[in-house]
Formats: sequence, C-alpha cells, structure tokens
Amino acid sequence: MKIFTNKRNLIKEISGLKSLGFVPTMGALHEGHLSLIKKAKIKSKQVLVSIYVNAKQFSSKKDFKKYPRSFKEDVNILKKNKIDYLYIPNDKDIYSFKVKNPIYLDKFNKRLCGRFRPNHFKAVVNVVNRFLEIIKPKSIYLGVKDFQQLSLIKLHIIRKKINIKIVACPTIRENNGLALSSRNTKLSNNQILKAGKIYSYLKKNKKLILQKILKKSKSEIIRKIIDLGAQKVDYLECLNIEKLELCKNSKTNFKIFIAYYIGNVRLIDNL
Ligand code: PAJ
Repeated sequence: MKIFTNKRNLIKEISGLKSLGFVPTMGALHEGHLSLIKKAKIKSKQVLVSIYVNAKQFSSKKDFKKYPRSFKEDVNILKKNKIDYLYIPNDKDIYSFKVKNPIYLDKFNKRLCGRFRPNHFKAVVNVVNRFLEIIKPKSIYLGVKDFQQLSLIKLHIIRKKINIKIVACPTIRENNGLALSSRNTKLSNNQILKAGKIYSYLKKNKKLILQKILKKSKSEIIRKIIDLGAQKVDYLECLNIEKLELCKNSKTNFKIFIAYYIGNVRLIDNL
C-alpha cells in the first residue's frame, strides 16, 4: 500500500488510472467502512482510501477533538486488505486551492440533521468535492447509513455533471441491529444494548410509526424511544425517499430517519 500525505505526489501516481475507486473516510475504521472497501476492491481495479477528519463539518471544536482516532490500527487494517493507496492529507492540502466546481447544495440539506447541525452538509459536500477534484476517481463508494450525506453528494455530482459512478453501500449493523459507527466506541455495553432495543422497536413498528406521525401523534413514539434508553431525540421523520419529502400518506415508499442521544453520544440511522 502506498501512503500519500500530499496531493502532488498522489496525483503523479494515480493520474491516468482508468478504474480508480475512492472510499472517503474519517478513520477509526470499522466493518461498515470495510464493507465499502471490499466492494470497491471487487468493482474497481485500484482502490484509494482517504482518512481525513474534516474539522469544518463538526458542530464544535469539542466534538472535533473528541472524535475517535486510531490511525495505527487503520493503517494495519488497510494494509491487510491490500488497498492500493492511502491518502492522509492535512488541512492545507485540501483547502489551499481554488475549486473548478463550486458546490451545489440542494435544499434537502436543511432537513433532518441539517436542522441541528447548520453548515454540516455544506462542509461535507465541499470536502468531498475537493477530494474529487484532486483524485478524479471513476467511482466513489458511500454508505446508505449516512443517507442524507449520500443524497446531497449525489445531487451535487448530478448537477455539476461530474463523470463518476456513485456506489451506494448498505448499512452494516451489530448483531443487535445498532448501525456500526466510529462513535459507537464511546458507548458502554449497556448503552449498546439500549441502542439495539431502539433499533428493534423502530424496525418492528415501521408502519405504525408512520401512521402515528401522519395522525400527529409523534410524541407517543418519542416517549417510547426515551423509555427504551435515549436521552433525547433530535428528530424522528418518515420521508418519501424518491421525493426526499415528508410522507403525506401511508402508501409512499418511505424510510424512517432518526437522530438521538444515548448518554452524550449522538447516533443517526435510517431504516
Ligand atoms: P465516515 O463517518 O468515516 O464514513 C465514511 C463512509 O463510511 C461513509 O460513506 C459512511 O456512510 C460509511 N459508513 C459509516 N458507517 C457505516 C455502516 N455502518 N455501514 C456502511 N457504511 C458505513 O462520512 C464520513 O466519514 C465523512 O462525512 C466523509 C464522507 C469522509 C467526508 O468527510
């Protein structure tokens, strides 16, 4: 595996590759990340993984500082998985150039997490756009776990006519259903149990939850989620996933979206 800390050397190495797959990450790698990496290994001839904890997309300095980091373990995992290239840029490498494509930020950025994390998605689309301009990969692998992020990156790529294939990868979960996340390392076993119970409840009662929300009885569901162990629920919404709008009736093809706290760890999921 070749490791690059600056874009000049990286570009020299990868320019001209016809089937380069790109997996952007913030490190603290887990089986969720690995599922993207494994898919990329199957579908793309060469695979480039980036590890960059993008300060601009965090709500506060404190949140950025406490984000889990396990760089040595990450490098070992990537070597073991025979990744071709690892790019670990610093802030200057990413932000010191003027982009060709200014970002397109769809109005969907204002919903769900966007209501609680202003500028988060602007920062995410910006950093991914910068990576794409540096790396020019043929495919990008992104997780459905972060559905809103995936949608906004997709809408940017379509609007800006960027020639790249987006490969959406399913959510990998713990045995109890909790979606894997780097933030899970901050949860105790008991808290993981609680989060699993919340997942099971949402999954078993998906249709009922939509009906309650349509009948303006969302508070009953929120109370149940708090009884199951959540400190607080930022949002619980049912969205039509084609239109990216709130469901207006029970016939739509929908997903439940949730952000909630277990202790002081914020978790998001969609199912
Ligand atoms: P990060 O949270 O490290 O996630 C990197 C990629 O892994 C994202 O595409 C995310 O959706 C995917 N992923 C995370 N958990 C997953 C799971 N349980 N199952 C499947 N895929 C999962 O998302 C980011 O980093 C950043 O915002 C980034 C795109 C790198 C921009 O800074």
